[in-house]
Amino acid sequence: MSWQQHKARGERHTHTSSRDKMNVPVLPSILLLISTAHAFQYTELAQHIDSHQEEYVEALRDWIAIESDSSNVLKRAELHRMMDMTAQKLRPMGGTVELVDIGEQELPDGQTLALPKVVTAQFGNDSNKLTVCVYGHVDVQPAKLEDGWATDPYNLTDINGNLYGRGASDNKAPVLAWIHAVEAYQALNMELPVNVKFVIEGMEETGSNGLDAMIVAQRDTFFSDVDYIIISDCGWLSRRPALTYGTRGNCYFFAEVEGPKQDLHSGVYGGSVIEPMTDLIGILDTLISPSGTILIPGIREAVAPLSDDEWKMYQDIQFDIENHKNKTGVNQLMYNNKVDLLAHMWRYPTVSIHGIEGAFSDPGTKTVIPAKVTAKFSIRQVPNMDPAMVKKQVTDYLHSVFAKRKSPNKLKVTMVIGAKPWLADPQHALYEAGKAAVNRVFNTDPDLIREGGTIPIARTFQDVTRKSIIMMPIGGFDDGMHSQNEKISRYNYIEGTKLFVSFLYEVSQLKKTSV
Ligand SMILES: *[C@@H]1O[C@H](CO)[C@@H](O)[C@H](O)[C@H]1NC(C)=O
Ligand SMILES: *[C@@H]1O[C@H](CO)[C@@H](O)[C@H](O)[C@H]1NC(C)=O
Ligand SMILES: *[C@@H]1O[C@H](CO)[C@@H](O)[C@H](O)[C@H]1NC(C)=O
Ligand SMILES: [Zn+2]
Repeated sequence: MSWQQHKARGERHTHTSSRDKMNVPVLPSILLLISTAHAFQYTELAQHIDSHQEEYVEALRDWIAIESDSSNVLKRAELHRMMDMTAQKLRPMGGTVELVDIGEQELPDGQTLALPKVVTAQFGNDSNKLTVCVYGHVDVQPAKLEDGWATDPYNLTDINGNLYGRGASDNKAPVLAWIHAVEAYQALNMELPVNVKFVIEGMEETGSNGLDAMIVAQRDTFFSDVDYIIISDCGWLSRRPALTYGTRGNCYFFAEVEGPKQDLHSGVYGGSVIEPMTDLIGILDTLISPSGTILIPGIREAVAPLSDDEWKMYQDIQFDIENHKNKTGVNQLMYNNKVDLLAHMWRYPTVSIHGIEGAFSDPGTKTVIPAKVTAKFSIRQVPNMDPAMVKKQVTDYLHSVFAKRKSPNKLKVTMVIGAKPWLADPQHALYEAGKAAVNRVFNTDPDLIREGGTIPIARTFQDVTRKSIIMMPIGGFDDGMHSQNEKISRYNYIEGTKLFVSFLYEVSQLKKTSV
């Protein structure tokens, strides 16, 4: 039962009592008091959050000041400091807080480097309550003022209610919002409606090294009593709040064509040798048609068909095609209607060609015939594609089109990443709880969306723990995650904190059996 329903019932009971006018307590009121002993006091929590807004912004400022760039090994000390700060933020809140050693990372030169520890925490261990586990990360993408930032990326700057800084939206503010949500309950001496666990890592931006193994290792300990997993590491699609129920996976390929024993002069040897680059461009051109049809046999057949329900859902989603054109700076998109565009960004695979290693790419002219070139391309994965199958389909297909060229050069195809997609059931009770929380805070239904990108950890959580996952973003659609001038608005940060306190309550209303 929702808080509004409690309230509505209470009013009805009071008004139907004739003794009410005499100010005599009535039995239904007493029952009401008992049944609402743990009623959700949203107004108090929301007021607390509003009145602590400046502290929350200062906490974000402290975190943004740490250059926790996980891709730069020279910044590793900062990353360790970031994990310590995260643990220090959680420790005064009681609970059990640990820094879990997840080992070392091997660098290309053979040296090893300690991975940032993973912070785990637990608040409440009442076996009568459901337990949720919040996942987040506090490492960031690289950022330099010279990249075109209007402000110092590591000095949080408030411009017209937008908080600019690297990692503001991805993912430091959402992690803090979750911590502040728990803190708000504690500050008001309100019992947490569910037990809350945290898993906060520092390697997300470079592939979550070591985290899969840690989840597997702790499956029967830390994760054993977790009922639901919550991830807030993505953004809304429009100004309307969103719940995310799917992400695409990714299969990343290298295709190498090798010919002459060394680079050759095109004036001296051109016309006498069969060039690796010509072969490579030729086979790359057979991957996808100009209108976006994937030409690799078997790929399209594996894709789950679009159902009528899904088609209807896409119709209701707020998505501005003109804005999408504007953001990308193109005047013609692959499709000119909303449903096709959303479907092809979220629930159909696509091929992207990223680069060619060994090709001449400096400014100016160079009349070289490269001896060996390696194309990098990837295929975003959707249900029911299987990366192992995709690897075989792509490899067989490229070898067959290459064979038709009758080239003496050598082709080698390897798949270097094989990340599976993740998909949840948006009708699941967990999403109903999410919708109720969004409605309470924002007075609107959320858009139910998918992400075109990949969050591999979602799939790991699903496969290892077998628990239901919800993605509940609070980042804005225009936050510029991974870009210059990343920001989160105060509005999203603060209302997002309210969303999280509400969601904890709504989850507590679910039955253990609906897991
Ligand atoms: C469980 O919670 C109680 C009360 O908060 C605490 O004293 C105890 O240490 C907790 N146990 C664990 C295993 O976290
Ligand atoms: C951050 O920016 C503000 C405003 O420009 C400036 O006053 C402050 O000194 C800066 N702080 C740091 C640590 O650079
Ligand atoms: C597109 O972006 C420009 C600024 O880059 C803005 O002036 C214009 O209003 C935008 N148009 C639409 C349709 O959003
Ligand atoms: Zn992120």
